Amino acid sequence: MANSHSTALDLQYLDTALTLAAQAGDVLLGGLGRSLIIETKSETTDLVTRFDREAEALIVEGLRARYPHHRILAEEGGERAGDPDAPCWIIDPLDGTTNFAHGLPVFSVSIACQVAGQVRVGVVYAPAMGWRFAAVRGRGATLNGRPIGVSQIATLDRAMLSTGFPYDRRSSQQNNFAQFIAFKRRAQGIRRFGSAAIDLSLVACGRLDGYWEMKLKPWDIAAGLLLCEEAGGQVSSWSGGPAELGRGEVLATNRLLHEPMLDVLRNVTQPL
Ligand code: IPD
Ligand code: CA
Ligand code: CA
Repeated sequence: MANSHSTALDLQYLDTALTLAAQAGDVLLGGLGRSLIIETKSETTDLVTRFDREAEALIVEGLRARYPHHRILAEEGGERAGDPDAPCWIIDPLDGTTNFAHGLPVFSVSIACQVAGQVRVGVVYAPAMGWRFAAVRGRGATLNGRPIGVSQIATLDRAMLSTGFPYDRRSSQQNNFAQFIAFKRRAQGIRRFGSAAIDLSLVACGRLDGYWEMKLKPWDIAAGLLLCEEAGGQVSSWSGGPAELGRGEVLATNRLLHEPMLDVLRNVTQPL
């Protein structure tokens, strides 16, 4: 349970995250639909644009100005050192770069603040959708300022799920294809939105009933996992252990579907 001092700090960090996510969202909206120079990272499916970098620079500068001793872990620039015991900001300046590069509006800015190893604040802002998700540990989750909660769907055959596929899917057999087929046989529908932060946010607000994915990075999921937990959902690894930021695999559900989805994941043994 947070004391009043840390609650006040959490709210201050939330305010910072909301402000910087809004500013970064404006940068991204300025680039949406423009013809972009698109670079690839290690895999030809893993893209980066100048807007990923500009949005990240804006957020990092904003944090440095406010909290010069805090640590930062951001996708494009990696880790920036600070005081070892200080909070760590975990940032994906543009989650959904492939959508963005194709002019599709499903992308987000994800900002989380971790204090003493625990994520306490999370913001996922999808500017082109007009969705601003926020959560503070112990204080619930909101969408555009209104409280949100997970869905009540209790069976997979009535469930809307989502997932994603790793960038090394062409070369690795650990590619989520077999799991996708197993869920496709059982669920009412499966969507692939292309932003893990949005997938998790949509579970939090009850529009999706469950989401699973593998080979994710801390910045993809740090804010979204807190949103799910604070909205009454359940998060774990694919074997039911804790959902760790460094582990890559995530299952997030409305709680009612957690065991049924774990059951499917545990029973997929053959990569395709
Ligand atoms: C990606 C998105 C996508 C997920 C990938 C992520 P990026 O992040 O979240 O939905 O399937 O695994 O890497 O590269 O657009 O920031
Ligand atoms: Ca990402
Ligand atoms: Ca990104």
